[in-house]
Amino acid sequence: MSDSRENQVLQALATVQDPDLHRDIVALGFVKNLAIDGDDVSFEIELTTPACPVKDLMKSQAEEALRALGWPKKVSISMTASVRATSDPAAALTIKNIVSVASGKGGVGKSTVALNLAFALAKTGTSVGILDADLYGPSIPHMLGIQDKKPETTTIDGRQRIIPVECRGVKVMSMGFLVEVDRPLIWRGPMLHGALQQFFSEVEWGDLDYLIIDLPPGTGDVQLTLAQKIKGSSAVLVSTPQDVAMIDARKALNMFRQVNVPVLGVVENMSGFICPHCGEETAIFGSDGAKKWAEREGLRFLGAIPIDLSVRVHGDDGIPAVLAEDTNPQVQRAFQSTAEQTAAELSRLHLTQPAPGALELHND
Ligand SMILES: Nc1ncnc2c1ncn2[C@@H]1O[C@H](COP(=O)(O)OP(=O)(O)OP(=O)(O)O)[C@@H](O)[C@H]1O
Ligand SMILES: [Mg+2]
Repeated sequence: MSDSRENQVLQALATVQDPDLHRDIVALGFVKNLAIDGDDVSFEIELTTPACPVKDLMKSQAEEALRALGWPKKVSISMTASVRATSDPAAALTIKNIVSVASGKGGVGKSTVALNLAFALAKTGTSVGILDADLYGPSIPHMLGIQDKKPETTTIDGRQRIIPVECRGVKVMSMGFLVEVDRPLIWRGPMLHGALQQFFSEVEWGDLDYLIIDLPPGTGDVQLTLAQKIKGSSAVLVSTPQDVAMIDARKALNMFRQVNVPVLGVVENMSGFICPHCGEETAIFGSDGAKKWAEREGLRFLGAIPIDLSVRVHGDDGIPAVLAEDTNPQVQRAFQSTAEQTAAELSRLHLTQPAPGALELHND
């Protein structure tokens, strides 16, 4: 009796689709730990990321599907998540997903987007690191007010390892910690490559769900080296709505395509100015340009971040806008939603095996 009831429950749940992954939650292996006690049903829906943008929708659809069966009196669903790995298993990394934030052009807000993406993901309960790969003009330590920190080193298995600086629960590494602020860096090509490699491979990141890399502007050697060296990484492109910025974004897109790094999508930054007095939005750099471009290129549009004074102010005072209490709620939502869309695209792109313990539907 309870066996067939179990199957009834699974059949009902098989009508609930993950709108991103275009498959039902039973086939995706999300349903776990089903218990049926009389007319009480409880189970777990284990998502591929806690930053799932459709978490609440899937929960209510699952409740509805079970109610439609008629007999369950009490339905308890616990929504959990286990971030799936997209990085190259052969590289034996302890980092599940590596996302470079890039643009062809300078000053479009890469560092701002990278930083807020990292903290928005961390807010959902995942373990996150941020690597400031801008060797010439590292800005992340300043944006977090930790420019005076020095990372410690330790020796593990006879190798020297750099311990990232921990800030508000996120692990941070930047060349800014290792060089003096006002001394210009004059790197020769091989040194630069060496520094990047050292940066990536000698940092003791520990277990991370997401590592966000803030890339320097442009599509030169630094970006190419990084894209090629870090196998299994993916990229997010940042652009303003202006055409000129998009021409540069296209260069970055082509670079990633050349080296087979999947581009998760496009973030439109400085997408409109919300007047702090009247709340009206003005499209200073035009509107929807990056969104339309993303559509043309077949890329996911990850979100639009308005121009807001709080973003700039918090970029200077050491608190990421997504964490600061006085940030315009519309801006906070924009960053949070961009992070969710990014996490969802990572799941969509790389979903492979169902999680251990996932329940399957039997057609008998
Ligand atoms: N949405 C926004 N609203 C207001 N100010 C913003 C916004 N995005 C970025 N800024 C500000 O614009 C400036 C440039 O941003 P940021 O440093 O993130 O750009 P970048 O692309 O990383 O630049 P670079 O190419 O020099 O690395 C900063 O002062 C930042 O605070
Ligand atoms: Mg930058």
